[in-house]
Amino acid sequence: MAAMIDGKALAERVTREAAMRAAALASERGIVPGLAVILIGDDPASRIYVDRKLSQAGKAGVRSFEHRLPADTPEAALLRLIAACNADPAIHGILVQLPLPPQIDSARVLDAIDPAKDVDGFHPVNVGRLSTGTGGLVPCTPLGCMRLLETVIEDFRGLKAVVIGKSNIVGKPVALLLLERECTVTVTHILTRGLPAIARTADILVAAAGSPGLVEGSWIKPGAVVIDVGINRVTGVDGRARIVGDVAREGVDHAAAITPVPGGVGPMTIACLLTNTVRAAERHGA
Ligand code: GUN
Repeated sequence: MAAMIDGKALAERVTREAAMRAAALASERGIVPGLAVILIGDDPASRIYVDRKLSQAGKAGVRSFEHRLPADTPEAALLRLIAACNADPAIHGILVQLPLPPQIDSARVLDAIDPAKDVDGFHPVNVGRLSTGTGGLVPCTPLGCMRLLETVIEDFRGLKAVVIGKSNIVGKPVALLLLERECTVTVTHILTRGLPAIARTADILVAAAGSPGLVEGSWIKPGAVVIDVGINRVTGVDGRARIVGDVAREGVDHAAAITPVPGGVGPMTIACLLTNTVRAAERHGA
């Protein structure tokens, strides 16, 4: 039976660690970490994510600044808000929830965030730092994946890792983090030819394609560790909506360990966002 990696319990621990660091920062330097969360429009999934981020912030000793703007917000207005957050000394982290509505150029928005406050790690400066292994703020979901893997893998060196998905938010940065730990990394995606056979070579399989149940049990090598990043809303035969991952749940018993959905990567993304915010505040004026 594959072990379940409990992302909820680990997220609680990581959040408590962030809270301790935030408390030390407040008592030693009088700094309360501040996080601006910006949501444009009313995409239901984005609203749920943002609500969770805001509700968890307080537990980590992070003060949140909430900005909910209508779906037709012009790009210039968002850029003005970001400039104000960049200039505000009470704000150490800025998160713009993606995706953005079509009238807004996401790349221009991410470029406008001060890299020192870019707690999502999406600014080109932080992307470059990650690719050269020279510090910077690292995207939250990939960080969460690594923390989950560390609970079951002691030594990453030389392991074969296969990442399914090539997004800027998960696939590419998690591949870089695995490479940094000296894994041999193959990045694949939905159009990769012979994907099941490539997946079967993986000691570490990260499924981040956003495709419900894509990875079947037969794609998983016996003893592999599987991280399921998918958060897909599907309607069951009973007509009720539920959340499923990118990995089908039948026939996965031969994996060494696997993350559940929900309760795996999701809570870790938020815990790592709060950790990044505390880290940004620690570096503030340092
Ligand atoms: N949309 C989906 N995942 C993320 C994330 O990690 N950060 C932001 N800002 N938007 C997202």
